[in-house]
Amino acid sequence: MKLCMIGVGYVGLVSGVCFSDVGNTVYLVDKNKNKIESLNDGYLPIYEPGLEEILKKNQREKRLIFTTNLIKAVSNSDIIFICVGTPTKKKSNSADLKYVFNVVRDLKKIIKSYKIIITKSTVPVCTGDKIENILKNLKKKNLIDVVSNPEFLREGEAIRDFMYPDRVVIGTDSKKASKILNSLYLPIIKKNNRILNTSRRGAELIKYSSNAFLATKISFINEIANLCEKTDVDIKDISLGMGLDQRIGERFLRAGPAYGGSCFPKDTKALIDTANKYNIDLSIIKSAVKSNDKRKLLLTKKVEKILNNKLINKTITFLGVTFKPNTDDMREASSIFMINYFHKKKCNIKYYDPSGEKDVFKKFKNVKFCKNVSSACLYSDLIILHTEWNEFKLLNLKKLVKKKNFKVYDMRNLYSQNKMKKLNINYFGIGR
Ligand SMILES: NC(=O)c1ccc[n+]([C@@H]2O[C@H](COP(=O)([O-])OP(=O)(O)OC[C@H]3O[C@@H](n4cnc5c(N)ncnc54)[C@H](O)[C@@H]3O)[C@@H](O)[C@H]2O)c1
Repeated sequence: MKLCMIGVGYVGLVSGVCFSDVGNTVYLVDKNKNKIESLNDGYLPIYEPGLEEILKKNQREKRLIFTTNLIKAVSNSDIIFICVGTPTKKKSNSADLKYVFNVVRDLKKIIKSYKIIITKSTVPVCTGDKIENILKNLKKKNLIDVVSNPEFLREGEAIRDFMYPDRVVIGTDSKKASKILNSLYLPIIKKNNRILNTSRRGAELIKYSSNAFLATKISFINEIANLCEKTDVDIKDISLGMGLDQRIGERFLRAGPAYGGSCFPKDTKALIDTANKYNIDLSIIKSAVKSNDKRKLLLTKKVEKILNNKLINKTITFLGVTFKPNTDDMREASSIFMINYFHKKKCNIKYYDPSGEKDVFKKFKNVKFCKNVSSACLYSDLIILHTEWNEFKLLNLKKLVKKKNFKVYDMRNLYSQNKMKKLNINYFGIGR
């Protein structure tokens, strides 16, 4: 098939590249010229394991076309995926749909023959109705079907998630669009029973409800971790003991810093906002959001306590700053809140992240990016294991840190408390 992905970010790029790998011709359109130019030169704008190889292979096969020319891409495609961002609005908690609607208004001018228009971006329930309303003239002439097909991939595992998804959700009441999309996904899904055909509004709400549920699960275990710290219980045992119950499941049950990333924070807020418009009080999700916001300060205050409330001139090392491993995405990473705070308290902050230096910290004089773990740790008072990249899991901290009595705050519980005790390392974990 001939596809067009509009918005070449984490979602548009990964899904476009994966669709091309199963034989489709894919136009990838972005308004950011630099991004398109560097993709045409073979450079990836994001860090995503495994993506480069598949991209280069399909570029060689001429199945991937990166362009800024929307008219050409749309005219040559049968299916149009809208993959632009839906961030939180500046002055409210609602999803900012201006990027989506801008695309729709452009499509209105371009479309002359039948196309399926899909929102892959995460959009609030009933957005598909609004899109259809903007395109009502095309709809009347049966030139379009507007479908919701939310994306569930996780950054860092995006290729595997896209190629072997737990489910594909297709929201439409058009038999024609449904048939075409079911066959598009068949090489990926292989078995029909992993495709859920539902209403467009249903598909939109499945995406938000899934993210809100996962965010709630994380906030839940993080609060239990707080209780563990007071009762001398190891949260790892609780996660294991709970997770073995199949009704609960082990995933998203690991305590750590406040959740971040480009999805959970904005999607939980947007869902609450949508519900408010219908006079529905989503009190559980509200609590999860509040709990997560409080957690940023809670862990920061714990750092102060670990350093005996003497922060001035202390050297703090962050190992990992991204919101999770195997991605370069810094959106809503809890490290931003913490580093801002310690910077104001006149600490010297050094950080190392395998995905490279981060623009958000470049403005701070006392925040330095180090090129490797050893230079980041060398004369540190406190090592904060913030993100669980594989290369942080087996460090010889005694060898790496030259300061006497240095401390370690392991926010991901990567290390054994007993081993740290035997090594005489001043060690603090989460919920233990
Ligand atoms: N990042 C994830 O892990 C993830 C997972 C599932 C769903 N989502 C959802 O997918 C959507 C996209 O997220 P993302 O992280 O890929 O976003 P992103 O910010 O990485 O990328 C969005 C891209 O859209 C481009 N764009 C904006 N307006 C455009 C226009 N008019 N024409 C062409 N290009 C335009 C931007 O230049 C940018 O490159 C969001 O709704 C998000 O919630 C994201």
